[in-house]
Amino acid sequence: MELGPMLAEALSETEESTEELGEALGSVLAAGDVVLLIGGLGAGKTAFTRGIARGLGVAERVASPTFVIVRQYQGRLPLAHADLYRLEEGDAFAIDMLELGEPGSVTVIEWGDRSAGVFAALEPLAVTFEADGAHRRRLTFAGSAQRWGGRLASAGLLEGAHGAGA
Ligand SMILES: Nc1ncnc2c1ncn2[C@@H]1O[C@H](COP(=O)(O)OP(=O)(O)O)[C@@H](O)[C@H]1O
Ligand SMILES: [Mg+2]
Repeated sequence: MELGPMLAEALSETEESTEELGEALGSVLAAGDVVLLIGGLGAGKTAFTRGIARGLGVAERVASPTFVIVRQYQGRLPLAHADLYRLEEGDAFAIDMLELGEPGSVTVIEWGDRSAGVFAALEPLAVTFEADGAHRRRLTFAGSAQRWGGRLASAGLLEGAHGAGA
């Protein structure tokens, strides 16, 4: 699966720090943006999404959509939060039924790598979470530099980035 060039990376040592990284991203998201979250169970994808929601001004608390597959929230933009864990990998029909990636909304998709091909045309930002021990998480951000580079910079996510081609 082609995620595009790595644009930034960040280290988090606490759940709150992961939420803050999500909040920074959420503050620069725009209608039509798709964010794919990639990483194993407990990697921090839902924590990061709680932060995105905060950055979008969603007042409601974000819950894991594992069983309902998609939950909708309203902030300064509508937020669709999906979790594809229970879908068959590559089930393009089911993904189509979910109507993700609507142009007026922000869409955040946990286990987004299961269907990255479906979303490729929407130029998603891919955030990959690697756990190193109980608390340390390494987040890497990849995608179209043209679409995402400036906004990651505005969000402060390029600061301290290593190997990001800066
Ligand atoms: N640095 C960290 N960032 C995010 N979560 C962390 C971190 N350190 C420990 N955790 C724990 O890891 C779990 C992450 O859960 P969650 O966000 O639901 O993951 P996922 O959605 O990827 O399955 C939580 O239990 C959280 O307390
Ligand atoms: Mg989750």
